[in-house]
Amino acid sequence: MMLSIADVLTSEQVAECRQAFEQASWQDGRITAGQQAVMAKSNQQLALDDPLALQIGDFIVQRLSSHPQFVSAALPLKVLPPRFNRYSGGGTYGNHIDNSIFSMAGTSQRVRSDLSATLFFCDPDEYDGGELVVEDSYGSHRVKLPAGHLVLYPGSSLHRVEPVTRGTRYAAFFWIQSLVRDDTQRSLLLELDRAVQALTLEVPESAELARLTGVYHNLLRQWANT
Ligand code: NI
Repeated sequence: MMLSIADVLTSEQVAECRQAFEQASWQDGRITAGQQAVMAKSNQQLALDDPLALQIGDFIVQRLSSHPQFVSAALPLKVLPPRFNRYSGGGTYGNHIDNSIFSMAGTSQRVRSDLSATLFFCDPDEYDGGELVVEDSYGSHRVKLPAGHLVLYPGSSLHRVEPVTRGTRYAAFFWIQSLVRDDTQRSLLLELDRAVQALTLEVPESAELARLTGVYHNLLRQWANT
């Protein structure tokens, strides 16, 4: 499942982050790349322990935890602290698959990357190139969202970032371990949840609505791992 989620950050919040990014100390992104990815990667990142990254990262996670669409789609169990990157001057990241397991810095916790997320901080007309291209069995999906919007896609996907040939592209990226590991099961739950939400508006008194809501929770009980 690929899903774009609008308005994770307001335009004021995006502007504030952008101002901070302009002053930030960016490092060569290859430092955190795996052995194969290092060949394909040409961008810059904030250090994982950069106070700015920690602060904005916390804020993003907090916003998402109360974002109904994100919660419904991702069914998050653990969210890895967001990381931040910058692409400009032809910067790119060739086709790769992300690591499957990440350690939470400073803890013994590990996060399985069931879902990948990219949050855009720049509007599409501010830079050329820089599309996130995700390959799945339905083909290639090119993603370039407005600032403040986020895309969720399966952590198992082959993906890349096209070269940024004009301007600068700032983004946050991170991984989510879901209560429901399987993408198909998670997609079915999202579909059912959407139907239940729509019926709640149309026929709030319906007895069948209560039964459908029960089916949702009983499927979640079957499939969730906590
Ligand atoms: Ni990646």
